[in-house]
Amino acid sequence: MNRIYYFTGTGNSLYIAKIIQQSIEYTELIFIDALSSKDKIEIKGDRVGFIFPVYFAKLPVVVQEFMERIDSIQANYTFSIITGGGLFGSVLKELNKKLVKKNGELDAGFLVKMPSNHPKIAQLQKQPTNEILAVANSQMKKITIVVEHKESNKLVTSPIVIGELITKFAFKKPYMQSQLGELDRVFSVDKACDTCGICVMCCPMNNISLDKGYVEWLHHCANCARCYHICPQSAIQFGSNSMERYINPLIKIEELTHH
Ligand SMILES: Cc1cc2nc3c(=O)[nH]c(=O)nc-3n(C[C@H](O)[C@H](O)[C@H](O)COP(=O)(O)O)c2cc1C
Ligand code: SF4
Ligand code: SF4
Repeated sequence: MNRIYYFTGTGNSLYIAKIIQQSIEYTELIFIDALSSKDKIEIKGDRVGFIFPVYFAKLPVVVQEFMERIDSIQANYTFSIITGGGLFGSVLKELNKKLVKKNGELDAGFLVKMPSNHPKIAQLQKQPTNEILAVANSQMKKITIVVEHKESNKLVTSPIVIGELITKFAFKKPYMQSQLGELDRVFSVDKACDTCGICVMCCPMNNISLDKGYVEWLHHCANCARCYHICPQSAIQFGSNSMERYINPLIKIEELTHH
């Protein structure tokens, strides 16, 4: 059995994980669920993959925490595909370091540019969504073959020094801190909210409450931006930034519902 551990906010990384699943027989997808028990995890598989978005040129905090919980990795082939808007820093190297600590190691790592879902970073995105997705699809054809044949590749990062500098210094503003809990402080909800509860149902961290009759964030946020994008009324605002709401067009809302 092949096992892919994935995290996703707006479906890009799930879409990529599904392409691998559909192309390689006996592949199971497992959501990196920060709410599940804190027990140690034993990872076993023929091919083992880690697929998730890059946040602030680093591993998302939920992925970092997941890595800490790994007890052992037994795999014939280990790979990772990281999705992002185009600024990856040295995230693959960071992941590899975590795996080495658990006696694992990446055989292959890939960075796939996808539409950015960060309301501020997305403003820098010039290319239309359909063009970005078309390029990603053709990149995935090649990646699938590499994974299928269990080939190794050199970890594709930005030139190492620049990558590491980006990872270290680029994102220092308070709203860019990738600590659990921080990002939801920039969200607000406006009067377009009809209290439908979709954001509550879709938040992978159980971090949104409607108990008081209005939407409230509980400050253990994974920074995934799903609530912002998924609200059918576009009632959730991210500071003064706004972008057209985005969910990967090939992922259904039901696939992003966790509760
Ligand atoms: C909090 C946050 C930080 C992000 N930081 C980066 C970044 O540093 N570099 C980048 O290329 N994309 C960044 N992005 C964009 C996402 O990595 C990208 O859109 C990714 O494909 C989203 O995947 P998903 O749909 O599976 O959640 C960021 C997105 C969010 C929400
Ligand atoms: S999804 Fe939007 S409209 Fe529905 S409860 Fe949440 S904020 Fe309100
Ligand atoms: S509150 Fe929003 S951004 Fe934070 S984890 Fe939940 S869905 Fe993601």
